[in-house]
Amino acid sequence: MFGPIREFALQAATGETIHPRDLWGKYVLLGSGGEATPALARALDGLVPRLAPLDAVAVVVASDPVPVLAELTAREGWKVLLLSDPEGVWGQTCRAGELILLDRVGIVRWRGHDPAEAIAALADLRSAEGGVNPFLRARRAYRALAPDPIPHEALTRLVEAAHLAPSCFNNQPWRFVIAEGEALERVRAALSRGNYWAKRAPAILALASHRDLDCKLSDGRDYFLFGCGMATGLLMIQATQMGLIAHPIAGYDPLAVKEALGIPNEYVLITLIVVGRPGEVRTLSDKHRAIELGPRERKPLSAVLAWNKFGDLSQTEDI
Ligand SMILES: Cc1cc2nc3c(=O)[nH]c(=O)nc-3n(C[C@H](O)[C@H](O)[C@H](O)COP(=O)(O)O)c2cc1C
Repeated sequence: MFGPIREFALQAATGETIHPRDLWGKYVLLGSGGEATPALARALDGLVPRLAPLDAVAVVVASDPVPVLAELTAREGWKVLLLSDPEGVWGQTCRAGELILLDRVGIVRWRGHDPAEAIAALADLRSAEGGVNPFLRARRAYRALAPDPIPHEALTRLVEAAHLAPSCFNNQPWRFVIAEGEALERVRAALSRGNYWAKRAPAILALASHRDLDCKLSDGRDYFLFGCGMATGLLMIQATQMGLIAHPIAGYDPLAVKEALGIPNEYVLITLIVVGRPGEVRTLSDKHRAIELGPRERKPLSAVLAWNKFGDLSQTEDI
């Protein structure tokens, strides 16, 4: 319901063909007029003075042919964009009389019938989007895990999200192995002592790669680790959205894990990603319980962000 809007190619009253991509950059309140196009177009046109300051435009899909829409627009002086859908293909996306709110990249964010509710939803969406993505805020390297199994479909979905990461020349250097059952037992045995908590996880993903799988630049920039890092980032955000914890760890015996999962020796076992649902905090050590329940720790932004000159970012004690 709230994914990207279904692809369409509909002619505007001007004769121009409009695809969802052409509407990007603005919020879009889209109505399906059907037989009642004039009434809906008039209603949405009346909203234009409220939509414009919120960076939004109004669009109405009508069953009438282009010349009829052109005449209506000219006669009424409407600012709404009328799209012609004589074959009714749009009906698969939106029922007559329904309103859809799209964000600035064409993702459906609200559906309903009441224009006032649409404006309220738009105002909420717009104010939320100025902040940091809520899933980034919610994600943490939590350690209290429930041992309940995670369906294969959900684990696959995590890797699917990771696989959407950008990579140098689209090389996609990431290779994931999901350990369950016997293989998981062997991975568990290879965890460092400090990672005792990860033994409760119902699944552990291994992420391996090789420098030959990605760009190697002459000044020593090998991009495979970077690509795998981005893939891991996306995986963690997807997990957060799905109510899961995905916690990357470096503390394990890499040879033992490679052996357990049949990962060739020449590959780098970059990280294990411990996956589970949130569990009981009392299973953690005092130290980890304090971290789990304590505030998110970050250096001040000024320690990692400079404008125009590296300057104070070169704190050598960090290196
Ligand atoms: C490459 C990497 C290795 C990590 N290794 C471990 C680990 O072995 N054990 C552990 O408990 N946490 C590990 N972490 C989690 C970090 O400690 C955690 O991300 C960091 O303290 C920041 O906390 P936050 O992710 O909750 O913001 C690792 C994280 C990364 C990215």
